[in-house]
Amino acid sequence: MTILQIEKPLLRVLAGESVRPLPFWLMRQAGRYLPEYRAVRQQANGFLSLCLTPDLATEVTLQPIRRYHPDAAILFADILLIPYGMGQPLSFVEGEGPVLEPIRSVEGLSKLDVSRADEVLAPVMQTVRNLRRELPSDVALIGFAGAPWTVATYMVEGGSSRNFEHTKAWAYGDENGFRQLMEMLVESTSRYLIAQIEAGAEVIQIFDTWAGVLPEFAFRRFCIEPTRRIVSRVRARYPAVPIMGFPRGAGMLLPDYISETGVDGVSLDPFVPAHWAAEWLQPTCTLQGNLDPVMLLTGGQPMQAEIERILSALGGDRYIFNLGHGILPQTPPEHVAQLAEIVRSWRG
Ligand code: CP3
Repeated sequence: MTILQIEKPLLRVLAGESVRPLPFWLMRQAGRYLPEYRAVRQQANGFLSLCLTPDLATEVTLQPIRRYHPDAAILFADILLIPYGMGQPLSFVEGEGPVLEPIRSVEGLSKLDVSRADEVLAPVMQTVRNLRRELPSDVALIGFAGAPWTVATYMVEGGSSRNFEHTKAWAYGDENGFRQLMEMLVESTSRYLIAQIEAGAEVIQIFDTWAGVLPEFAFRRFCIEPTRRIVSRVRARYPAVPIMGFPRGAGMLLPDYISETGVDGVSLDPFVPAHWAAEWLQPTCTLQGNLDPVMLLTGGQPMQAEIERILSALGGDRYIFNLGHGILPQTPPEHVAQLAEIVRSWRG
């Protein structure tokens, strides 16, 4: 048997090795803050078509790699491709975000078809294959999906939301019905992630952006439980592929999220104290995070001081530098270059 030499710094950290300089990548590193992204976006016939046209999706995934050479590329796609693939009408309205035809009861679920998603999302797998061919040999490829709870909030509310009242009303009031929606999402998401790994994704990230709006009992039922099932499905097929979770806003429930879902690592939002995470989470899993993305609007000395504070708390083993949430569209690209330089030259 040949012994696989792992060369990519991000994969080495996930395998438990000490790596210097520390690896980094940034959530939403491809996107509107880059003029070259806006140029490609104009060529595409809307955002969905950008996600589902492999040549264009490959190009925008590579744009931040050329500029900043981070240690990972994240597949350019969106968490809402799953409901779209299952047959729920979706559009992205300029300046408004996603708009879906809401589904608010079990009857609405009959319009969805899990196996339809395999076909609709096939172009995403072509993007993954292109990327594995085109990425520099030291850059790891991250595949991703939304967690069932977060994807369900968009499906039920019909878009972004402030209070999530329709989703919570359904989840609290008709638990059996809502579980059927979760079930469909566990199934389609597991299949989608397994297909991404088959096509070449080397790490998986599961985004649960709205986990933090759930009270404890519901966090256990609708965030931890479906995520645990996806992790075990994916791991049964691909035990060596690391899985990262991002239960944004989980706070004091992070230790339970880690031990019960079985993820290999978590992304920390900006509100998690770095020293607490180093003491209570880092012994059990790899951490990513957690610079406030708004720091990138300011740049300069305040950003440098905050990056160094985070690095000195978390920058031992099992750490990948990242933001605590996605890059904002108004971010000056030169501040991202400054960030990359600070992280790369840190030797603490
Ligand atoms: O570098 C990357 O991270 C690119 C891939 C990526 C996108 N969305 C591209 C995108 C990823 C990983 C996502 C995840 C995503 N999508 C999440 C979870 C992470 C998070 O940010 O919390 C969520 C909640 C979504 C749903 C979504 N997609 C919303 C609410 C919006 C509208 C808000 C906005 O920023 O416009 C999107 C659109 C979207 N997804 C854009 C991009 C680059 C902007 C679309 C455009 O070009 O107009």
